[in-house]
Order: sequence, then C-alpha cells, then structure tokens
Amino acid sequence: MMLEVEEIHTFYGLSHILFGVSLKVEQGEVVCLLGRNGAGKTTTMKSIMGLTPPRRGNIRFRNEEITGRQPYLLARKGISYVPDDRRIFADLTVGENLEIAARKTRGTEEWDMERIYELFPALKDIESRKGGCLSGGEQKMLAIARALMGNPELLLLDEPTEGLAPVLVHALEEQISKLKNAGLTVLLAEQNVRSALRSSDRGYIIDNGQIRYHGSVGELRENDEVRKKYLLV
Ligand SMILES: Nc1ncnc2c1ncn2[C@@H]1O[C@H](COP(=O)(O)OP(=O)(O)OP(=O)(O)O)[C@@H](O)[C@H]1O
Ligand SMILES: [Mg+2]
Repeated sequence: MMLEVEEIHTFYGLSHILFGVSLKVEQGEVVCLLGRNGAGKTTTMKSIMGLTPPRRGNIRFRNEEITGRQPYLLARKGISYVPDDRRIFADLTVGENLEIAARKTRGTEEWDMERIYELFPALKDIESRKGGCLSGGEQKMLAIARALMGNPELLLLDEPTEGLAPVLVHALEEQISKLKNAGLTVLLAEQNVRSALRSSDRGYIIDNGQIRYHGSVGELRENDEVRKKYLLV
C-alpha cells in the first residue's frame, strides 16, 4: 500500500472541513478524488502533504505513520504535491525552474531534464523563457514537470486540467498514462469527471468533507445516480 488515509478530520481554525475522510492508493495506481467546488479535495491533498495537518485520524505512506509531518520531510520521503495554483518561479526560466527542483534518489529510473522534455516536448521549446511569461497550460505542465524532477513515488495532482483547453486536457491525460506506465502512483483531485475517469483506475467521490462513494472507473461510469447527486454530471 502506497497511501492510507484513515478517518481524518481537518479544520481551518474553527471550521470543521473534513469529516472522517478515508482513502487508499496502492502502488502503481492512478486514483481520482472527485468532487464539486468546495467539496474538500484540496483540503484532503493538503492534509496528506502536512500543509493542513488533520486534528484526528491517521495517514500512512508505505506503512509508515506520517500524520502531521512537515511538508519538506514528506517531499524527501517521496511525496510530491502539485497545487492548483502552480507556484512556479516567475523570474526563473523554464530550465532553471526544473533544475532547482532536482532531487537525487538511489532509484534507477531517475527523472532528469532529458526525460522530462521527452514527456513534455513543448517545454523543451520554451526552455529559456521566464516562468512569468508562460501561458496557463505551459505553467501547468511546468508545475508537473517540476514535481517529477523531485523523483517522487507518489504524486498528488490538484485539478491539473482546470482552465486548460480541451486539446491540452487530452495531452495531459496521455502524460498521466505515461507516468503510470513509468511506475508512478498518482492521486488526482478533479472536478473534470470525464477526464479524471479516463486517466484513473479507481475513484472516490467527496462531498461536504465526506467520502460518499468509491469504486472502480467502470462502477463510477455506470452509477448515474451517484454522479448526478454529488457531481452534477
Ligand atoms: N484557508 C481556508 N480557510 C477557511 N476555509 C477554507 C479555506 N480553504 C478552503 N476552505 C473551505 O473548505 C471547504 C473545502 O475547500 P477545498 O478547497 O478543500 O475544496 P475543493 O474540493 O478543493 O474545491 P475546488 O474544486 O473549488 O478547488 C470549502 O468550504 C472552503 O470554503
Ligand atoms: Mg481545490
């Protein structure tokens, strides 16, 4: 088991946001966390990454208790979070943004610039452009590429398709499937249900801070009732 989230309760100040959220991701899986605006997807990701540690409940990474650990320690252990607001360095070029994110591991299949540019050829073309001069789609790609430079085992992707043109959404789906083939484990938060289901093996539906459903992609596709109730699609 790569990731186990067990009955977590997360708060912002006095606001109780997550109510006993549980989910599991096995090694090599792509699992999506689906939910509407404000459902609790980002809060779940941030809880895992130690940015908003849960007040109750447990999180385990490769069977090790990591609840409430500092984000940088989790990054060192091999978890990488790509937030929906990207946070790339505007004054650095694309290439520099990638270089500073490099983290050496003892793994054999390390990510380096060459491999990154194979996955995202469009980034190679804009290697010397400043981060601040990129389009939304280019920034999204760079944010994911940067996370990969840290050689993570588990990638937490928060709404990667948000604001992307349909052609880029499809490109991203292909990139996610290549990552899966490369052995990466992914937890994908999405409002874009169709896209997420194309990339995933299994999925969870979160609504009002609670997991309402989980199942295989096939089960999620067939269950119109649940999708209409919690996802409005
Ligand atoms: N910093 C914060 N302080 C207080 N409340 C917050 C904060 N961030 C989020 N919330 C609230 O927590 C709830 C869950 O928000 P969250 O961002 O986790 O949802 P989400 O599923 O990621 O939504 P979206 O699809 O819009 O990104 C919402 O009601 C939101 O208003
Ligand atoms: Mg969010």
